[in-house]
Amino acid sequence: MRHEHVITAKGLSRADIETVLDRAAELEAADSRAVELHRGKILALLFFEPSTRTRLSFDAAIKRLGGDAIDMGAVDESSVTKGETLADTVRVIEGYADAIVLRHPSQGAAKMASEFVDVPLLNAGDGAGHHPTQTLLDLYTMRKHVGLDGISVGIMGDLKYGRTVHSLATALTKFDTVQHFISPESLALPANVRYDLHEAGSTVREHRDIEDVLPELDLLYVTRIQRERFPDEREYRDVAGEYGIDAAALERAKEHCKIMHPLPRVDEIDPSVDETNHAVYFEQAHNGIPVRMALLDLLL
Ligand code: NCD
Repeated sequence: MRHEHVITAKGLSRADIETVLDRAAELEAADSRAVELHRGKILALLFFEPSTRTRLSFDAAIKRLGGDAIDMGAVDESSVTKGETLADTVRVIEGYADAIVLRHPSQGAAKMASEFVDVPLLNAGDGAGHHPTQTLLDLYTMRKHVGLDGISVGIMGDLKYGRTVHSLATALTKFDTVQHFISPESLALPANVRYDLHEAGSTVREHRDIEDVLPELDLLYVTRIQRERFPDEREYRDVAGEYGIDAAALERAKEHCKIMHPLPRVDEIDPSVDETNHAVYFEQAHNGIPVRMALLDLLL
């Protein structure tokens, strides 16, 4: 891969994406034979925000490759509480590890931190910014089920604060997709993402109601409202419960239409969807293992 650091989806070319997805498919097919490719390699996990899937799947991925992970643990037990800057923290950690995975509440934190280190730094979410490794596993899941070209994709939910949306929408411009964005008005796509989509030649089609577009979609990507990013809890309450999908609504969807979600979900996908053939969100989360193994394999 051309890029040492993985900061935004914009920084990944179509060829880069395909290289990672192809390698992930090989590793998935090879199963346990894939292990031990990177014996002795150490991955540092620096999570300044909560994480379940991203942290554990990176941890499992490096271990399956024969390496190991060191985890900074909870922020309130680290030197951050003594006032250490992020730049100093990553400069120290690069001496302990062969690559760094960073999640941070500030947009732009990963880009800034990457400027201080020579080992690959992977952005595992920077505030309401980007989450490119999630996008790679999203694309892997999509490619398996509906392909990545000639498809109509709906992205529904918190398009304003949802970093998985920002990365996914940007990455999809590299494929032949039509993107529909469904959200309450106050959670529509931010200007910088609109600009990137526009620059890439994509048309932004916006809807307030999923009913208007559901029958056209090959795939619907749903996200939760990013409650923790709202400056004011009242604003959150105004939009809470405003959108969602259930099995009954999906009767109007194409039979092959898949429902994805980066998880965790709150109430936006009713559990009645889980048992339908549309639901692929748990498999999507599991795909974090081969995809993150592939990414680490290529970067290390
Ligand atoms: C996402 C995130 O952290 O942005 N979670 C994840 O990594 N799968 C989505 C979310 O928290 O809503």
